[in-house]
Amino acid sequence: MTSFLLTKVRYTPRHRQRSRRPPMSHDRNMDTIKAKLAQARSVTVLTGAGISADSGVPTFRGADGLWRNFRPEELASPEAFARDPRLVWEWYNWRRGLIATKRPNPAHVALAAMERRFEHCWLITQNVDGLHRAAGSENVSEIHGNIWRVRCTGCGEVTENREVPIPILPHCGACGALLRPHIVWFGESLDPDDLERSAAALRSCQVMLIIGTSGVVYPAASFAPIAKAAGAFVVELNLDPTPNSGLVDLSLQGRAKDLVPRLLD
Ligand code: APR
Repeated sequence: MTSFLLTKVRYTPRHRQRSRRPPMSHDRNMDTIKAKLAQARSVTVLTGAGISADSGVPTFRGADGLWRNFRPEELASPEAFARDPRLVWEWYNWRRGLIATKRPNPAHVALAAMERRFEHCWLITQNVDGLHRAAGSENVSEIHGNIWRVRCTGCGEVTENREVPIPILPHCGACGALLRPHIVWFGESLDPDDLERSAAALRSCQVMLIIGTSGVVYPAASFAPIAKAAGAFVVELNLDPTPNSGLVDLSLQGRAKDLVPRLLD
């Protein structure tokens, strides 16, 4: 499998594909989605920061988004960590402190229930907050890593660490080298096993749900076309329209905490 780079593509309005579908009522759209789910044996879900917004975790590009206040190139890249690991760790300590107080919301809980309802149900998340697992989801690929894990820059060992704050600078208990957050930063490759697992889930599902992502960061932004090309019925549930809105079969705007639980009614 080709190794994927985590690159960001700037999305401009002229890319917005106007949906040529006549607007249908939310309820009729919801009924259509539920009918498709009722026939499905395999469902794949892709989530982004929007699903955790209702738990109080900031998104990246929303009005109060992290990248409005911080510069990713200074905080979320291997170059930034090499340049100033203390600054990067201070920022991740701030995010860990924030996330530590947050709980799964009804959307996370509904997806965990959905996992038990289908023969095959896989959840691919871009979120590093760990709220899907906290809600009880087990079939999860955390393709951008997890904020509660650290990785040794020397021996590569990955360990769970829930200290808030983590003493700066943290070092590996085994080899003494510097520890870094176990997060996939811009310009870094995703874990090939996560990609393999995600690709298999995208190519074998009858229904794909895309929840709370702006669809501008690759390779996750390429997942909807992969599932669609494999014949899946693709649904977007998001607060705002995205580059995916014009290519999916159905796009519903609204809050994840309100829309996702309705899928299981
Ligand atoms: N319910 C549903 N959708 C929501 C909600 C909500 N309550 N609140 C916000 N959204 C939508 C926004 O409209 C936006 O389209 O969620 C999306 C969040 O987009 P981003 O902030 O860009 O987050 P995400 O798509 O997950 O970012 C992808 O970028 O910075 C990197 O690695 C980071 O994983 C992240 C990746």
